Amino acid sequence: MTGKVAVVLGVGPPDGVGGALCMRFAERGLHVVPAGRTPEKLDALAALIESRGGRATPCVADAGQEADIAALFDAASDLGAIELAIYNAGNNFSGPVKNMEAAYFEACWRVCCFGGFLFGREAARRMETGSILFTGASASLRGRANFAAFNAAKSGLRAFAQALAKECGPLGLHVGHVVVDGAIAGEKIRKGLPQVAQRLGEHGMVDLEGIAGAFEFLHDQPPQAWSFELDLRTALERW
Ligand SMILES: NC(=O)c1ccc[n+]([C@@H]2O[C@H](COP(=O)([O-])OP(=O)(O)OC[C@H]3O[C@@H](n4cnc5c(N)ncnc54)[C@H](OP(=O)(O)O)[C@@H]3O)[C@@H](O)[C@H]2O)c1
Repeated sequence: MTGKVAVVLGVGPPDGVGGALCMRFAERGLHVVPAGRTPEKLDALAALIESRGGRATPCVADAGQEADIAALFDAASDLGAIELAIYNAGNNFSGPVKNMEAAYFEACWRVCCFGGFLFGREAARRMETGSILFTGASASLRGRANFAAFNAAKSGLRAFAQALAKECGPLGLHVGHVVVDGAIAGEKIRKGLPQVAQRLGEHGMVDLEGIAGAFEFLHDQPPQAWSFELDLRTALERW
């Protein structure tokens, strides 16, 4: 066993929240375990981290599969003591309620809420100190027409995280939630929704480095001054 370990579930390209978190905490000397469903993306990110002098061991895991989450934490525990666990999985699911298939709502809940429970439970079982952090969105705080499934799942994740914080705080584990209120200046929006990126412009999208900094701030807080939540938005956001 060596060093301290950070597990990040929901990792894609370097230019995304999961990627930025892995790189930030690897720079701080943590042995990072980037986890997600696509080995090629995880391997590329791990290679990038290693090329910069960090340590990274990718792990394929589906957030909604109980056995995958247990195996992820088994693999991470073999590398050292887990000091940080971040649940970042949760793609946006849109669509009006009247046309929504039940299976669609359930699939959204599985990745955006249920997976957070599996991850938080496993982290709480394995960690003695450190932080368990969750990525939220505007949907965590308010319902919006055509986003009911995502709203329900993300607000459920937030409530779960808050309950976990109250259970685990007295035991020495800091549980926190970061609300990203707006589109992020990363690959998902730039490549997936270029028209949105263009409309918002660079000043209208939430900065990845700023997001990584918020997670870092929460992780560094002393137990006598813990925040449960930080909310991040651009200066231009109407909220
Ligand atoms: N992008 C935005 O504008 C925005 C805005 C506000 C909040 N957020 C929040 O930020 C987080 C994502 O950040 P991001 O958009 O920059 O994306 P990202 O961190 O670059 O990528 C997230 C990765 O999660 C993985 N993932 C999806 N479903 C998964 C599952 N079932 N199991 C394991 N991994 C899974 C996906 O990779 P695979 O498909 O390869 O598994 C995806 O690449 C989410 O919590 C989202 O709600 C995003």
